[in-house]
Amino acid sequence: MTLSGEQPAYGPRESDPSKPSPARVYDYILGGSHYYPVDEAAGNRMVRALPLVPALMRYNREFLQRVVHLLTGEYGIRQFIDFGSGLPTEDNVHEVAQAIAPETRVVYIDYERGAVDLGREILADNPHATSIHADIRQPEHVLADPDLRGLIDFDKPVGLLMFAVLHFISDEELPMIERYRRAVCPGSYLVISHGTTAQTARVAAQQNLAKKDYDQRTERTWMRNKDQIAAIFGDAEILHPGIVHIPDWRPTDSGYTPDPDDEARQLGLAGVGRLV
Ligand SMILES: C[S@@+](CC[C@H](N)C(=O)[O-])C[C@H]1O[C@@H](n2cnc3c(N)ncnc32)[C@H](O)[C@@H]1O
Repeated sequence: MTLSGEQPAYGPRESDPSKPSPARVYDYILGGSHYYPVDEAAGNRMVRALPLVPALMRYNREFLQRVVHLLTGEYGIRQFIDFGSGLPTEDNVHEVAQAIAPETRVVYIDYERGAVDLGREILADNPHATSIHADIRQPEHVLADPDLRGLIDFDKPVGLLMFAVLHFISDEELPMIERYRRAVCPGSYLVISHGTTAQTARVAAQQNLAKKDYDQRTERTWMRNKDQIAAIFGDAEILHPGIVHIPDWRPTDSGYTPDPDDEARQLGLAGVGRLV
């Protein structure tokens, strides 16, 4: 906090019960239990404006589980950094990965104090996972963190997980991702899920209303299209099936067939790239 009580533009934040936070609003909509009345009110306004939001969030969590399962089980990844990890919900990265390979190391990062404190509490007995309180827009600070360096070996491939976090990063700030890509070795993976503008006019109008309220009262967001997300991957080799709507990314691994009439699909894109 600054002396005036305002949140600084950059840097980790203390939990403020008087202002909705992305982590807590998300937790509320997903049916969690770590939110304040302001978050509940913000979540209700969001769902009223855009009723498809809970489905999108569930798709995002299922994508996280599919990808971590694949990277751990089939591609042998044994270390993950989860950027903007949020409040710990069921089947989080360490649970999925360590169920397959118990030695897998996981570092969660969030700028919301409450999310990190709760994460640390849950992980207290887990020697291979931790949660750090940092702003991912400060890569030098994040990469120098002693807890992160104690767990992650940068000479071995790392899964850089960026689920539903990059739409909180402006175009001017986005190039910082390059710093993380350069920190890891070839054979590492970059995973992104990202909000995008709906294609049907009716849903796009609802989305616009929800975004306006969220941007003004919770946190500013930037929706991106497929080409803009592809640019974030740079020269990474994009895995099959490319950058697609979130539930369409290898859906059979979650046991369902994507429904083209499902309107919630159009609100988010996802992709996985192998760094070269
Ligand atoms: C919508 S939640 C997504 C949580 C989780 N990644 C998931 O997909 O289920 C976005 C999270 O990113 C965090 N976040 C946003 N900007 C951040 C930043 N610059 N540094 C660290 N965390 C950030 C928020 O606090 C929030 O917990």
